Amino acid sequence: MNVLILGSGGREHTFAWKLSQSPLLTKLYIAPGNAGTGTLGENVNIKADDFSAVKSLCLEKEIHLVVVGPEDPLVKGIHDFFLDDAELKEIPVIGPQKAGAELEGSKDFAKKFLFRHNIPTAAYQTFTSENLEEGYAFLETLKAPYVLKADGLAAGKGVLILDSLKEAKSELKEMLTEAKFGAASTKVVIEEFLDGIELSVFVLTDGSNYKVLPTAKDYKRIGEGDTGLNTGGMGAISPVPFADDVLMQKIEERIVKPTVEGLKKDKLPYKGFIFIGLINVDNEPIVIEYNVRMGDPETEAVLPRIKSDLLELFKAVGDGTLNEKTLELDPRFATTVMMVSGGYPEAYEKGKVMTGIETIKDSIVFHAGTKQVGNEVQTNGGRVMAITSFGDTMNEALSNSFANAEKVKFEGKYYRKDIGFDL
Ligand code: AMP
Ligand code: GLY
Repeated sequence: MNVLILGSGGREHTFAWKLSQSPLLTKLYIAPGNAGTGTLGENVNIKADDFSAVKSLCLEKEIHLVVVGPEDPLVKGIHDFFLDDAELKEIPVIGPQKAGAELEGSKDFAKKFLFRHNIPTAAYQTFTSENLEEGYAFLETLKAPYVLKADGLAAGKGVLILDSLKEAKSELKEMLTEAKFGAASTKVVIEEFLDGIELSVFVLTDGSNYKVLPTAKDYKRIGEGDTGLNTGGMGAISPVPFADDVLMQKIEERIVKPTVEGLKKDKLPYKGFIFIGLINVDNEPIVIEYNVRMGDPETEAVLPRIKSDLLELFKAVGDGTLNEKTLELDPRFATTVMMVSGGYPEAYEKGKVMTGIETIKDSIVFHAGTKQVGNEVQTNGGRVMAITSFGDTMNEALSNSFANAEKVKFEGKYYRKDIGFDL
């Protein structure tokens, strides 16, 4: 099979790495890809959300399956675009159709879905500029901290957690009346704050059947001890040590099953990944968000633990026969540590030469924001490279990732040396 992966981050390099191991793979294309994906397949310089360019590429390269990495093309309807096109409609796309992608595209839609299907989630109300005063009144009924969420996609920056009521009111006003997050904050979800520890659960579904993939925990803040600004994610660990059989059973019965059944009942076509963000409050799992794709850097820790042939699983997602497949997992821990450019998540420079990558032998290197320039690998983004290691314990895996992160050199390199500190 010829496979096209859309995207350019560490997540997409991990997909490329995993799919390259499949005997079913003939040729791999990645659009636009990075320096790492270029060693496993052919990078094609088109944007993941340029649908007509994606179409030409699929026809020219005789693509048999498309894997969509990021949420943007899904929310914009790339899967529907394929189904509506006579020349593309037989090509399976891994990722939901537009209606299903609203689970990530709109927080209000996701909250309504969760309530409709009795899936545990925080109490909430949604407001627009029309009923700002009611928003203030709702905030007054809640206790600090206050959670405000821009309804639409805001590149991971649309959630504010505020300690004072005054601040919460003024932020709400800015979001609704001054378009603080552009069109994404035309609506704002105000939610009850949940006090607990986060984990993420990943599900692969063909719309009827599903497989629960390994759990992971991500570290979103730039600074050690979970301080400073939010980032795309600075590292991840799989499995999450506190996600024991009892908790996983609750997650599957109360959350995963009703989610997949709810999609069916609501006639939301869904073939792809469901990334469920949870907070564990006194051993009760509560949903805080859905994403309609894999996480980054969670993918860099989750996929290496899947022993089964991922391309075979993707094929089954396309055919609706996921129930006939088994999911075999590596019981070891996998940890990933993300190296970023100095300044990230604010302004940072690109084009820094990277060295030492080839000296890493006992970890897996996943490129994120990198680019091949002649013989050199250069930085090309905020998050630059993830180092994934296995271990019988979390700490064994982590020390390997940290030691290998030391070996890669580039000007301004930074990474968190405390991934896993809270576990
Ligand atoms: P989200 O974009 O929905 O994942 O939210 C970003 C981050 O905000 C999450 O990773 C949580 O750390 C935090 N968060 C979101 N919702 C809540 C909530 N209801 N209570 C506490 N923290 C939350
Ligand atoms: N690491 C968080 C995300 O991918 O949304």
